Amino acid sequence: MSIVKINAVTVPPDKQARFEERFRGRAGAVEKTPGFEWFELLRPLEGTDQYLVYTRWTTDADYQAWQQSQNFDRAHDGGGDTLAPAAADSHHLWSYEVLESAGPHADQPQRA
Ligand code: HEM
Repeated sequence: MSIVKINAVTVPPDKQARFEERFRGRAGAVEKTPGFEWFELLRPLEGTDQYLVYTRWTTDADYQAWQQSQNFDRAHDGGGDTLAPAAADSHHLWSYEVLESAGPHADQPQRA
């Protein structure tokens, strides 16, 4: 049963462009981590002002190992600006267990 860890971050409007830019230049180490299954950065459009950093892992231990690793630290070292501290006051880590999931099947017609 996979585990989902979501970092929900409120980013002040004047820092959003920089926040997204930082993710475009992210380390790219997480996807090479054992037990890593999925990552998405979700920008809020309606109903919330929180960005979500969605990650999915094979086990909670896989997530914990990454979170305690140098790769996590390197991805969060501040990048020489004040973005991480500014957002740090307003972030929440949410944990979920995947009960059901689905994706498109190879035998279904794909939309163009
Ligand atoms: C104070 C809390 C946090 C802030 C402000 C924050 C912000 C950021 C920023 C700006 C980046 C872009 C990389 C860079 O700037 O060098 C990043 C990378 C990332 N963050 Fe966080 N983050 C926080 C905690 C977390 C937590 C708890 C998770 C767990 C779900 C997480 C998941 C990720 C992932 C998966 C990446 C990409 C790493 C890679 O490419 O290897 N972050 N984060």
